[in-house]
Amino acid sequence: MAPTRRGTVILEKDYRISEIDDRLYGAFVEHLGRAIYGGVYEPGHPTADSDCFREDVAELVRELNVPIVRYPGGNFVSGYNWEDGVGPREKRPRRLELAWRTVETNEVGVNEFAQWAKKVNTEVMMAINLGSRGIDAARNLVEYCNHPSGSYYSDLRRSHGFEEPHKFKVWCLGNEMDGPWQIGAKTAYEYGRTALEAAKVMRWVDPSLELVICGSSGSGMPTFAEWEATVLDLTYEHVDYLSLHTYYGNRDDDTPNFLARSLDMDRFIHSVIAICDYIKAKKRSKKTINLSFDEWNVWYHSNEADRRIDPWSIAPPQLEDIYTMEDALLVGSMLMSLMRRADRVKIGCLAQLINVIAPIMTETGGRAWRQTIFYPFMHASLYGRGTALLPIIRADKYDSKDFTDVPYLDAMAVLSREEDELTIFAVNRDLEQSMDLTCELRGFEGFAVQEHIVLEHQDLKAVNTADNPHNVVPHTRGDGVVEDGQVKAKLSKASWNVIRLAKAKS
Ligand code: AHR
Repeated sequence: MAPTRRGTVILEKDYRISEIDDRLYGAFVEHLGRAIYGGVYEPGHPTADSDCFREDVAELVRELNVPIVRYPGGNFVSGYNWEDGVGPREKRPRRLELAWRTVETNEVGVNEFAQWAKKVNTEVMMAINLGSRGIDAARNLVEYCNHPSGSYYSDLRRSHGFEEPHKFKVWCLGNEMDGPWQIGAKTAYEYGRTALEAAKVMRWVDPSLELVICGSSGSGMPTFAEWEATVLDLTYEHVDYLSLHTYYGNRDDDTPNFLARSLDMDRFIHSVIAICDYIKAKKRSKKTINLSFDEWNVWYHSNEADRRIDPWSIAPPQLEDIYTMEDALLVGSMLMSLMRRADRVKIGCLAQLINVIAPIMTETGGRAWRQTIFYPFMHASLYGRGTALLPIIRADKYDSKDFTDVPYLDAMAVLSREEDELTIFAVNRDLEQSMDLTCELRGFEGFAVQEHIVLEHQDLKAVNTADNPHNVVPHTRGDGVVEDGQVKAKLSKASWNVIRLAKAKS
């Protein structure tokens, strides 16, 4: 039998990173593949409600307790005419959708999405098209969505049956505008200037908006860092958040290296904060720009299949990654990376939510089920709200192809708002050995373990499917316990753990 590793953590109630913004556990729904059509909306589906929204899907979204959903793209938004998706359905045009080479029917538009958001108890994070369009379409959309009445676009909305404004608060100024694949891609200067003018007029329509400026579409872009600095230099006082996007894969089937990729995410966040603060210093500004990590996930399984999809079909099965046990481990670590910088990362969007690189999968006309990554995301969303604590971690480390000093133990802790619950999240990255975790608690007198949830599987490539939806599911047989002021728990090899403590009621 393989020996057991040891990992130690010190958790002190007053070592606080920050309050966690609930919006850290947001997600993303794009007009892409079967996210909307066959996911959110499906007339004739046995569970469809009177608005044709799938109730089975809505139920799973509610389980995740997602506070905000970015919409309608993504690459899609850079060619989108929002006017195509409002008003009588029979008059809405079918358009060639150039970003994903499909046909967009426009059966769902901004009003329907707002309705769906209400149904699943979430907010909409709206994106404007700064690719093929500009400030005029942007200010009109804000007026349509957020102005109460008495103007052309607000009254147009009312004439479409939506008397009350949607009051969308958070708006993205375009999407990945540095990417050559983007419709209307721009240089940093071109984008910065356009985004500045868009931000101004959007806020003149609705001063309460919170605005997200596009950072690089990834830290591997040749213009990374310079792009952020230029764009922020041009827009600093007019925006609130800078966006980050990242996706990881395990293409060469090197799992220790794959599981270490969250270290890259840590580094990425750290670098972007440094850039924001450099511009702050340069401008002698009192304002701090925070981060919106509005696309993050594992994405690679579907790349090959996507190349075989015929263009110009309606809602084809694009980007349908089927997630494995090991993907769930990395997603767990990525969630901890976000929590670790909750002082600056205020918005996070798992990309995406339904069918398209998503925790929720459906059959068009059939079943809906939870992928492996559903579970760490749900656990973080349910139990990761409150204050992020700074754990002092000691554990053995390993080197992998792209990383050195990768701790076998990845851990974070969150204290609930009422300070009566403490949740320890932990991944054991060791593929061979379990780990004896000892977590010294300081300032948590009277706390006891309520539940130790574990996600594990003997096969790291195990997946959930419509026929076998419960193959990879969490259990609560973890042995976490408090003894002499310490949490003691065995972390199985290659496992995701959620150890939930609560203070005994006096
Ligand atoms: O989430 C899928 C795509 O990834 C988005 O449309 C785009 O913004 C990113 O490149």
